[in-house]
Amino acid sequence: MTAPPSFRLLGLSGSIRKDSYSTAILRTVKDGLPEGATMEIFDLRPLPPYDEDDDEEPRTPDAVRALKSAVAACDGMFVVSPEFNHGMTGVLKNAIDWVSRPGYESILKGKPVALVTISSSPRGGIRAQSHLHDVFLSTVSRIVPGRQVAIGGVEGKVAGGRLTDASSLRAVTRLTDALIAEITLLRR
Ligand SMILES: Cc1cc2nc3c(=O)[nH]c(=O)nc-3n(C[C@H](O)[C@H](O)[C@H](O)COP(=O)(O)O)c2cc1C
Repeated sequence: MTAPPSFRLLGLSGSIRKDSYSTAILRTVKDGLPEGATMEIFDLRPLPPYDEDDDEEPRTPDAVRALKSAVAACDGMFVVSPEFNHGMTGVLKNAIDWVSRPGYESILKGKPVALVTISSSPRGGIRAQSHLHDVFLSTVSRIVPGRQVAIGGVEGKVAGGRLTDASSLRAVTRLTDALIAEITLLRR
């Protein structure tokens, strides 16, 4: 019997606060992954601010080295970010900058990426979603096609550290399936 295909996903949350709704959504995605799929939720807190002087060996900070290894090793990324001042958060943009060199030829090139934005407002951080699109286009990543997932009024949709709203859960599950389909397509 052949083993089911394996999918190594990397989860990035744009928020590092303890009770983050973004991280709660990533946890929910991780819990509901289909057989064969795994997800590491990477802790972005130890990353220093981007400094091009340190973006080469042997000066690369350990936390950056760890992020680069995780990105290089994963089959696809699942990114959830709140909207901060009409864009993605600085924490997330900083992480993307660290793994984005050399320009257009980095480990993000061709990497399938699923995007979710969240917000306490009803719009669900749709401007941060556009920002993420622009940035992942610049890194030549493969943004998973389909309906945009922007979860508004998020504080009423998460409980006990998990996403509980039925319609948001359906949207996130559909996006997870689309990410895995994109990875499968790339393997053909
Ligand atoms: C610095 C800051 C800026 C924010 N800017 C926006 C914004 O531009 N648009 C919006 O819809 N919500 C904005 N919010 C609300 C966040 O989207 C909301 O607090 C969200 O739940 C934070 O995500 P987290 O729970 O993952 O930490 C902002 C919050 C903070 C702290």
